[in-house]
Amino acid sequence: MQLISSHAQPIGNGVKSAILPGYMPGFGNDFETEALPGVLPCGQNSPQRAAYGLYAEQLSGSPFTAPRTVNERSWLYRMRPSVRHAARFAPVSLPWWRSAPCLDDHDLPIGQLRWGPPPAPEGDLTFVAGVRTMTTAGDVNTQTGMSAALYFVNQSMADDYFYDADGELLVAPQAGKLVFFTELGRIEVGPGHVCVIPRGVKFKVELVEGPARGYLCENYGAKFTLPNRGPIGANCLANPRDFKTPIAAFEDKETPCRLTVKWCGKFYQCEIGHSPLDVVGWHGHYAPYKYDLSTFSPVGSVLFDHPDPSIFTVLTAPSGEDGVANVDFVIFPERWQVAEHSFRPPWYHMNVMSEFMGLIYGQYDAKPDGFAPGGVSLHNCMLPHGPDLNAFAKASTEELKPHKLVDTLAFMFETRLPQHLTRYAAQLETLQRDYADCWRGLERKYGSRP
Ligand code: FE2
Repeated sequence: MQLISSHAQPIGNGVKSAILPGYMPGFGNDFETEALPGVLPCGQNSPQRAAYGLYAEQLSGSPFTAPRTVNERSWLYRMRPSVRHAARFAPVSLPWWRSAPCLDDHDLPIGQLRWGPPPAPEGDLTFVAGVRTMTTAGDVNTQTGMSAALYFVNQSMADDYFYDADGELLVAPQAGKLVFFTELGRIEVGPGHVCVIPRGVKFKVELVEGPARGYLCENYGAKFTLPNRGPIGANCLANPRDFKTPIAAFEDKETPCRLTVKWCGKFYQCEIGHSPLDVVGWHGHYAPYKYDLSTFSPVGSVLFDHPDPSIFTVLTAPSGEDGVANVDFVIFPERWQVAEHSFRPPWYHMNVMSEFMGLIYGQYDAKPDGFAPGGVSLHNCMLPHGPDLNAFAKASTEELKPHKLVDTLAFMFETRLPQHLTRYAAQLETLQRDYADCWRGLERKYGSRP
């Protein structure tokens, strides 16, 4: 299978095609795809003998009895059932990939926190070995909460495969291109894209252009879905057709390989004599996908004031309580600012949610200084934050002409649960210990009414 470009390709006369070769459009569709003709059975899931002599296997991402709207499963037609990919496991150490609960890992006091982009760790780093967890929230054992991490990659996972039993993975590259070769197909992503790998789906990661680095959210709870739009209506924000799920692709490889599994915060490894990526065709709606963040259609204020940042939610993982997310994935993309007589940046606030922010490229409007691409900020539950002194001074005095924020892409992993720092984050040399000073110059204001 050829490598797939991740951008819409010009065809004839410079016209761009929305069709992305190698992918199927739609969010949560009931997909059907086969790498060889006739792999999928007609009219049933589990024939007595599947085509090509393959095994039929169901992969369920929800209880069998979950309501139809949240019932997740796919049928995989493969060379070996997954029991052949899971031999005797032995514990293996991946000390930098932490899981909740991860409390009392450091003695840093509470506070608003920010880090410059950390240097890549030394040594050989596959996608799995290169994960550096920054925060954890909730409890992986009760499937609530999440972790937020950075990843660093300088080599491909040639014969190493992995799956995460603890949660789905949302990957936001900041530099370098990667291919996630999953059981259900190949996904290429680079900066400006995200991909989501469901819980339990085996994969390896190949470096296309690197070294690569980025951000990773491990969602322990219910899987990400699209937020309801409410009065916005049937369009804008993230549109379902812009989500791309890969067509079937497989490896027919019988050489020594290793499978690593993350299970309840621990890692286990087994030796297998073949690639587990042996799915020749599949159908269903439990599948990985990618999304080009430039296709997000932002909705905002067209007269005055600044809406709540939730208006920029791309994906939300519900907690079970209405309107309360286990994790929200929110972006701050290019957009016009046109609000009249308004303070246009995000306002000062305190929030019950806990906000892990990253910057893919450019400059974030509320923090023009000190928040660099590849960096992180953390504004935890009920810790006040908002524009820094320079952003306030500019936004409160500038002439309010229509203005376009360009070449900028920030994002947030926001959760209802407090995010606890790992030791790695607390001891990181790029921790900006003077970050809170960015508000120090905000002087007392109490004068005559303007
Ligand atoms: Fe905030």
